[in-house]
Amino acid sequence: MTDLSKLEADLSALITGAADVADLEAVRVAALGKSGSISDLLKTLGAMSPDERREQGPAINGLRDRIGGAIADRRAELEAAELDAKLAAERVDLTLPPPPERRGRVHPTMQVQDEMIAIFAEMGFGLAEGPDIEDDFHNFTALNFPPKHPARETHDTFWLPEDASGERKVLRTHTSPVQIRAMQRINEKLPSWIANGPPSANGEPPIRIIVPGRTYRSDSDATHSPMFHQIEGLVIDRAIHMGHLKWTLDQFIARFFETPLVETRFRPHHFPFTEPSAEMDVRCDRSGGDIKIGQGDDWLEILGCGMVHPKVLRNCGLDPDVWQGFAFGCGIDRLGMLKYGIPDVRDTFASDVRWLDHYGFSAFAAPNPATGLS
Ligand code: DAH
Repeated sequence: MTDLSKLEADLSALITGAADVADLEAVRVAALGKSGSISDLLKTLGAMSPDERREQGPAINGLRDRIGGAIADRRAELEAAELDAKLAAERVDLTLPPPPERRGRVHPTMQVQDEMIAIFAEMGFGLAEGPDIEDDFHNFTALNFPPKHPARETHDTFWLPEDASGERKVLRTHTSPVQIRAMQRINEKLPSWIANGPPSANGEPPIRIIVPGRTYRSDSDATHSPMFHQIEGLVIDRAIHMGHLKWTLDQFIARFFETPLVETRFRPHHFPFTEPSAEMDVRCDRSGGDIKIGQGDDWLEILGCGMVHPKVLRNCGLDPDVWQGFAFGCGIDRLGMLKYGIPDVRDTFASDVRWLDHYGFSAFAAPNPATGLS
């Protein structure tokens, strides 16, 4: 066997034996690379006599072409095999069940708040908000809490330290201060209404808002949390009376508890900012373990309400002989506990994911056919 045919046989064996593309590349470099065995042979052609070259030239070039061809064929073979192996290994089995996915849940308080906003929105109420840190004027004074009056103490107020001007702000104890802010804003518009006619002349009420938000009191037990949520309602217009208040709240309760109109009663009460003031109760049944709204012989207190006190209107620059209004306020968490059977309000704010998994709501729930709410 000549040297050339031995080299060809050896290289062919290596090419066939290459297990993968990297192996084959090593063979190619060893044969055809810069100082590969065939490349070295090609370099010898220059030093040969013309006769020798005439004989060796075609032989060495032929060897180079055959080996080059063999390498290309083997490479194609190996690449196809590698692709097949990859396809087999990476095949997606569409029949496998999907891996479990952690879905976030809507917190019950936010769910209940959204339900309330949707119900009042349909009755034409707009949304208003105010700051969590309030001044004494908006939280108490303008709402007709007399200075040093014990009513201020009943709110278990969180007072902030005195600031540079000697003022002590409060974490608002209720959402009622936003009533004051809304009325003050309207008051600023009054001069233009007097000149151009008030919006109510176009059928638009001067104020019809609900105010959801966080509120704070130093209190903690199964039904009280130091931070909780209230929703406030305020309607100001000409000739507003308690009939409007009762109708609005009756509609709200029926929609919220997803029942037909249920019996409600108004018990006289006292709030400094309303006159008359009332607490509204709904008929309920406590005889089974949980409370059933709208049936039975018991009453459940739901919220506080009343006609906006003339002094409060005056504190906001509104003339009570022209403007009247009603207001109400209730606990969002509390109504949520009643509607969805949540036993302890403190769990609501404990940030326990297991609790949220149980009491939370899907963000993608289909709308309830009875209420249109999701
Ligand atoms: N602010 C009262 C509270 O926190 C609730 C309330 C009662 C609000 C009567 C009102 C209202 O607007 O008219 O206890």
